[in-house]
Amino acid sequence: MIGGEPDVIAIAPGRVNLIGDHVDYAGGQVLPIAIERSTAVAIAPTQDPDANVSRIYAIEFDQTTEVDLTHPVPPRPHDSSSAFLNYICGPIEQIRATGVEIPQLDMTIASSVPMGGGLSSSAALEVSVLLGMRTLLACPVAPLELTLEAQRAEHTYAGTPCGIMDMYVSVAARAGHACLIDCVSNTLRQISMPSEQKAIVLVTDTATRHALSDGAYADRRKECEEAARSLGVNLLGEATIAQVQQASLPDPIARRARHVIEEIQRVSEFARTLEESDLEMAGSLMFESHESLRTQFEVSCSELDLLVETAMKFRGQGLYGCRMTGGGFGGCTVTLCTKESAPMIAEGYSSAFVEAFGRPAVSFTTRAADGAIVVSR
Ligand code: GLA
Repeated sequence: MIGGEPDVIAIAPGRVNLIGDHVDYAGGQVLPIAIERSTAVAIAPTQDPDANVSRIYAIEFDQTTEVDLTHPVPPRPHDSSSAFLNYICGPIEQIRATGVEIPQLDMTIASSVPMGGGLSSSAALEVSVLLGMRTLLACPVAPLELTLEAQRAEHTYAGTPCGIMDMYVSVAARAGHACLIDCVSNTLRQISMPSEQKAIVLVTDTATRHALSDGAYADRRKECEEAARSLGVNLLGEATIAQVQQASLPDPIARRARHVIEEIQRVSEFARTLEESDLEMAGSLMFESHESLRTQFEVSCSELDLLVETAMKFRGQGLYGCRMTGGGFGGCTVTLCTKESAPMIAEGYSSAFVEAFGRPAVSFTTRAADGAIVVSR
């Protein structure tokens, strides 16, 4: 790595959410898994005692950035070439805020999580920086605190008012399990995934990032807050469908509220169907979730919808369910299917994509992976 051997290497995975989208910030439950794609951060204090800058080398960009980390570093504009520093300096400022002195460092970053692809590349980077730095500086914190630091970093430096899901699963996932996260109490229950003989997870990237995604995410969050206020609850997740019906909320607020309340219900049912290995039912819930995100919450797009429509044709041929995953407006779908059918389904997605958009869609299978770890010290 840059500057010699690292003292610490921390690795944190990306995630794919099986079900429960746009409910984490509204007081719901979510059910993501960590994927077998991750970000690694190698760190060592700078060897030169007179150095007045730290060096951050990003392998993917083949770019070294120099920045003085011993003093607070302000957020960079989101359209600047150094905007990726926000995902490093945001976490570092969280550590500094707890009274820890930050020395000059050499840091190298490598990642196999597709950037901006809806698989939480930013959470993977924030979590790996926090874990690596807190290990290097011998100031560890509990997993939930690390998660909350990463979330605050995302709010303050990346500017996305996200929920807790992406960071929490990246920190706390266990191989072979999905994380059932209650986003009110911030408690987490590990739910066993079906064995590979029964079902696997296929992730398909639309390679589309619709420009309105950032602003629209914040807008949706505001709409949920507005619905909660009108219904007289703290968080929308506390309300019932009967309350929504009685309140006659205006459009689109009523649809947003319905999505959140019904999606939270689907997460509980999905977790139960996983535990009972009722994969047909789990798959139906995934399709319902997509439909709700498309029509009620309006965060899908034609590329995601095409993949889900194509998935419906494979029902009964090894495909259980498919839906958009994460924030939406592009990004990826998640499919639950048998291992044997996965190549045929991936091929089907890609040919449908070529026909509609003139380019293939790339899929990969993943097992539910472990959360963040320190691999060397
Ligand atoms: C993004 C956010 C999450 C969550 C999802 C939608 O990934 O970072 O907190 O809100 O969108 O479920």
